[in-house]
Amino acid sequence: MSFKNISLIYIFLLLFGQVSGQTKSSKSFYPGKTWNDNMGKPIQAHGGGVMYYNRVYYWYGENKDTVTSNQNTGFKGISCYSSKDLYHWKNEGIVLNPVKSDSKHDLYPGNIVERPKVLYNEKNKQFVMWMHVDQQGYKYARQGVAISKNPTGPFEYINSVRPNGFESRDMTIFKDDDEKAYAIYSSENNKTLHLSLLTDDYLEHSATYKRIMIDMSREAPAIFKSRGKYFLITSYCTGWSPNPALYAIADSMMGNWKEIENPCKGEGAETTFGAQSTFVLPIEGRNESFIFMADKWNPKNLSDSRYIWLPIQFNGNKLHIKWVEEWSLDFFKRFNW
Ligand code: GAL
Repeated sequence: MSFKNISLIYIFLLLFGQVSGQTKSSKSFYPGKTWNDNMGKPIQAHGGGVMYYNRVYYWYGENKDTVTSNQNTGFKGISCYSSKDLYHWKNEGIVLNPVKSDSKHDLYPGNIVERPKVLYNEKNKQFVMWMHVDQQGYKYARQGVAISKNPTGPFEYINSVRPNGFESRDMTIFKDDDEKAYAIYSSENNKTLHLSLLTDDYLEHSATYKRIMIDMSREAPAIFKSRGKYFLITSYCTGWSPNPALYAIADSMMGNWKEIENPCKGEGAETTFGAQSTFVLPIEGRNESFIFMADKWNPKNLSDSRYIWLPIQFNGNKLHIKWVEEWSLDFFKRFNW
């Protein structure tokens, strides 16, 4: 091969690397660029969340791959990817499958299943997945629950509920240090968020719940705990279109939630950098290091929606999320919090 050809291939690889972001060897995050899995295919884990178990991170999310079905919003399965370093992800396949044979089933491919999140229940030694289950038109507004003995599934679907009789759409779940788990979800026609305590097995909602961010039309909740305080990042309700985020703080989960401000700063802050919150990922073994995970939706081709992962910075008790083109976990080393 001539020197010219080798140079051309090199230039091509460089350019391609730029466009697709993550390469096999890279130890960086490239927010908004295509992120490929170990098979070289774009990761399909939209509206997702990450669970850490036995020194491995598991990323669960909506598979929106149009190769398996041409229906853009219909349920194609919940995917799982695993990683030890957060940069490189192994495709563990679909861990919750559509039920094609029963059109009345919540998981029928024509239905909607969004924002799955998984927690490990110590008591029952099982993994519990909660998700938003809906029908086209978003009037069904329920939460579905599934269980598995393994983090990589298969998850067995149990049923869906309206927590304490209330609607539920965008949602997340959160496990506190005392092993109590909570669901946070858009309710009351998406006008008000509800926060409810799950039962000890995480399989049901207890009667203890609280209305927060009342009449503020917040959704896409992402929650984390830092230095004894609880932080809840949310989006406004504008469908697939991005809007400004808003976060609230509380001293306890069932305490008073106080709205603060848009945590995003700088250029792109007014649209959450073109994305919508989905999860906040605590980095294991690093003090006060959290990644803000958001979805940059592409409504024309949802499978090509991208991931915006950005480091959360603290300014006193205030959160700052700023755009970074390329970054690594070493970013957190510069801070002394
Ligand atoms: C968004 C929501 C997404 C999806 C979308 C459908 O507001 O956060 O998860 O439901 O609406 O339009």
